[in-house]
Amino acid sequence: MTQSEDTGQDRIRTDIAHNARVWNYWLGGKDNYLIDRQVGDQVTGMYPSIGQVARADRAFLGRVVSLLAGEDGVRQFLDIGTGLPTVDNTHEVAQRIAPESRVVYVDNDPIVLTHARALLTSTPEGRTEYIDADAHRPADILRAVEPTLDLSRPVAVMMLGILNFILDTDAATSIVHRIMDAVPSGSYLVLTHPTLELGGEGNAEAMAFWNENATPPITARTRTEFAGFLAGLDVLEPGIVSCARWRDGGATTVEVAQFGAVGRKR
Ligand SMILES: C[S@@+](CC[C@H](N)C(=O)[O-])C[C@H]1O[C@@H](n2cnc3c(N)ncnc32)[C@H](O)[C@@H]1O
Repeated sequence: MTQSEDTGQDRIRTDIAHNARVWNYWLGGKDNYLIDRQVGDQVTGMYPSIGQVARADRAFLGRVVSLLAGEDGVRQFLDIGTGLPTVDNTHEVAQRIAPESRVVYVDNDPIVLTHARALLTSTPEGRTEYIDADAHRPADILRAVEPTLDLSRPVAVMMLGILNFILDTDAATSIVHRIMDAVPSGSYLVLTHPTLELGGEGNAEAMAFWNENATPPITARTRTEFAGFLAGLDVLEPGIVSCARWRDGGATTVEVAQFGAVGRKR
């Protein structure tokens, strides 16, 4: 089968829960299988706030993209670990504010590939692209974005809920550095990441269960480890906080155990 014939369909496994599909289930979506719902429910039993984590993460995405496309004038977004299409995907938020925005999505789950068409509904002035690639191979991603993104102009690199699937912290840091080294001053790094801090202590059991019953395996990180990804960047106010609280205007009453932060390259 050639690359152009690979729609993802033949690679979908329905015998093991996949993160993109379980995340979709927690967000109230329908693009998931029985095994995803079973594992998703078991995780929720051990870690009841996981649904709030998923919703807070998406709301954070909306606030950050609005800010960057709005007052910061960013017109290019590289969204790695996209997930299944949902409401207010990155290109929809960005192009509502700046129709000429260009967005490249990257994910390695075959089900995301099968739904990629829903992510490719660009405004005529802008452009969206989907790349089926593994975040462990940043050089491949950088090569593949070239037809769509001008890497001499600022890019918002979005890695929401994905570095937790790069289990080795040094490897995850070097992936972040490889990508941020390729984009110019004025670019941004947008991150969310689960933690056992911020009240997420109960997630240890749920993560161990996940790692025995689902794919890909996941890890939590400490504030210090998370801060390491942002080293050398100017971290925007309010710094590293629960993503639910990041510039929420005081509206959030729930603090989810998911760090969120935005760094700007000098
Ligand atoms: C928790 S979901 C987050 C989705 C979206 N970024 C959000 O914040 O709502 C993580 C996504 O990362 C993708 N992913 C996991 N490991 C990956 C890898 N090594 N390369 C590319 N994508 C990966 C999964 O398939 C999934 O769609």
